[in-house]
Amino acid sequence: MEDYRRLLLNNKAWVAEKLALREDYFSQSAAEQKPEYLWIGCSDSRVPAEDITGAQPGELFVHRNIANMVIHTDFNVLSVVQYAIEVLAVKHIIVCGHYGCGGIRTAMSKKDLGIINQWLRHIKDVYRIHADEIEGLPNQEKQMARLVELNVIEQAKRIADLSFTQRSWLSNNKPTVHGWVYDIYSGSLNDLIRIDPQSSVDGIYAYDFSA
Ligand code: CO
Repeated sequence: MEDYRRLLLNNKAWVAEKLALREDYFSQSAAEQKPEYLWIGCSDSRVPAEDITGAQPGELFVHRNIANMVIHTDFNVLSVVQYAIEVLAVKHIIVCGHYGCGGIRTAMSKKDLGIINQWLRHIKDVYRIHADEIEGLPNQEKQMARLVELNVIEQAKRIADLSFTQRSWLSNNKPTVHGWVYDIYSGSLNDLIRIDPQSSVDGIYAYDFSA
């Protein structure tokens, strides 16, 4: 059997398993989605959002890209975030990075990878902002791990910088923004930052909705 056929076969087994649990499993879940969480994670195959959090279908609204970035010119991530906030009214937005991230490792190198350079450039900016702290660490492994964490914190802050996040904070007192890091070596998730609704946002990024 060709390898990819295994995935289709697995799906048949999965359908049977769900239907055995509850006959109306699919008709129920097809009716609508009301996820309480938006997950922004890395595309890395070793960080499956639902598996590592034990979330069921219908619980997580998911966006994944290289190195879990929130880039303010990326209509893809911005559309996902706006939809999650304004239509799904999620309570929490989780930005989750992971140690051993290839995107972070490559951004720390001088490799030229064509268009990917433009994506990784945003990680290089995070490095530049925190260069003193990162370069003060004793070896490359520790430096990379710290950049993974600083990048998560930075991306969580970028969610807070968005006008539609701040508007929702005022009118709905949500979402709470979280920055987490996943340890691919141990399987644990660690909490790095939590930004509560109506937290103070760095001056220049704060919007005034009174006008
Ligand atoms: Co990654």
